[in-house]
Amino acid sequence: MKIDVFYTPLGLNAGDLTGRAVVVIDVLRATSTIVTALSAGAKAVIPAASSEEAVRLTSNLEKNGIVLAGERRMLKIEGFALGNSPREMTPDAVAGKTLFLATTNGTPALLAAQGGDPVLVAAALNFSAVAERARHLFSERGELVIICAGREKQFALEDAYTAGRLIKAVKKGVPPKKLVLNDAAHVSLDLAAQQGGWLDAFGASGAARQLSEVGLGDDVKFCAQPDRVAIVPVYADRRIAA
Ligand code: MLT
Repeated sequence: MKIDVFYTPLGLNAGDLTGRAVVVIDVLRATSTIVTALSAGAKAVIPAASSEEAVRLTSNLEKNGIVLAGERRMLKIEGFALGNSPREMTPDAVAGKTLFLATTNGTPALLAAQGGDPVLVAAALNFSAVAERARHLFSERGELVIICAGREKQFALEDAYTAGRLIKAVKKGVPPKKLVLNDAAHVSLDLAAQQGGWLDAFGASGAARQLSEVGLGDDVKFCAQPDRVAIVPVYADRRIAA
């Protein structure tokens, strides 16, 4: 039984994920935002590769059914209704709407995961629910792929920590001799064992530091709340729904 972790989507080639069970992680903040938006009643989230693509995808759509959201350098994109803060994803802002979301690392990672079957969206906020679903898939299929969005094409501590916790939950009951982990999966497990809890691990990351610098430190605290919701968003046919 095999678990592969990718620290960024850069190492993926077309066809690598075809038919494989995949979990995508960008805890600070895109996957936390998606989980929160769907649990606040958004109909679906459409990940876009860029702000331009988000605008293009919505150009012929009825404006009252959609919300444009996203960030550049962590701040709301000019002309968009919402940024990429999970705290903005209130029922008032998103219930009944389709969210078109463009972020620097998270939405490109989701696009890179296309081809996976299924593609699950993970955060601390929905951790137990997504871990349970991933554990079932792992025992049925005998393998799991975890894609971390990373940050600016580099390793991101908060995503690797979450991957490690997910591996720990998913491999429960599997005899060590039967388990094959790639190197990134090994390191993620060690990292999750060494770091403290969610907030300590997220708080130690470069992303948390940068969010604090732009006045969004409360997002780190928000994203570090485990099991706030029990939904498992699934990405299929270019849309994410709960
Ligand atoms: C991203 O997708 O790059 C992130 O979620 C960045 C952020 O808004 O914190």
